[in-house]
Amino acid sequence: MAKFRLPKNSRVAEGKRYPAARGSKKVRTFRIYRWEPEAAENPRLDSYEIDLDKCGPMILDALIKIKNEVDPTLAFRRSCREGICGSCAFNIDGKNTLACTTRIEDTRAGAISIYPLPHMPVVKDLVPDLTHFYAQLASIEPWLKTDTPAPTRERPQTREDRTKLDGYYECILCACCSTACPSYWWNPERFLGPAALLTAYRWIIDSRDEATGQRLDDLEDPFKLYRCHTIMNCTNTCPKGLNPAKAIQEIKKLLVERRS
Ligand code: SF4
Ligand code: SF4
Ligand code: FES
Repeated sequence: MAKFRLPKNSRVAEGKRYPAARGSKKVRTFRIYRWEPEAAENPRLDSYEIDLDKCGPMILDALIKIKNEVDPTLAFRRSCREGICGSCAFNIDGKNTLACTTRIEDTRAGAISIYPLPHMPVVKDLVPDLTHFYAQLASIEPWLKTDTPAPTRERPQTREDRTKLDGYYECILCACCSTACPSYWWNPERFLGPAALLTAYRWIIDSRDEATGQRLDDLEDPFKLYRCHTIMNCTNTCPKGLNPAKAIQEIKKLLVERRS
């Protein structure tokens, strides 16, 4: 159930400042959310001044530089550094996006703020707890389901049927969309959210899948699907340019069509 008041210990305090080395010419400040579960302290915003002449071009380069050279206690996730793994998703200057594909020079002037993805429990610093997000993904059974016996070779698909998956199979499960969705903020327990629903649609329209009816049955629920009010935050924020709102609309259309 959504809480209407923030607990006192959620107030973000001003944190430490880490000045740039003397003689640095191209300095940008990164204001980064810090919270340590072991410390009985409120979260804080630490300010790191980084010389961009000695830093790679992406936000992730700055985070790695801070961790390696300035403050090894900073916690964040990353892996591929090329927009594939989905693990470096943060709220950067107010928008959920990937740190590894966001150029520092493309941010607005002034200090760059970096927070964990919104409305998720925080494990530490920039690391959100995605346990519930993944459980919701698992609940839509994102794998090929068939009743017919497996063929000796692969299950074929026409080029046209394969093309229908474009714009849906590319999801990297970064959670930027779900954590930008107001309906998900209010009903995270019962609304599946745009990421899980986009993946559900990807399997519903897969010509090789034989569980389409059951998949639609599972989604025909006032909360799981119909909490989406087409606010479009999901589509606006997706760093891969996907359109979860459209996928949700298409599922709704399929449910209407099968009633008629
Ligand atoms: S739809 Fe886009 S924003 Fe949502 S999880 Fe997939 S890649 Fe991330
Ligand atoms: S379109 Fe639906 S899923 Fe996307 S942000 Fe809006 S309410 Fe959430
Ligand atoms: S590090 Fe993999 S998407 Fe950014």
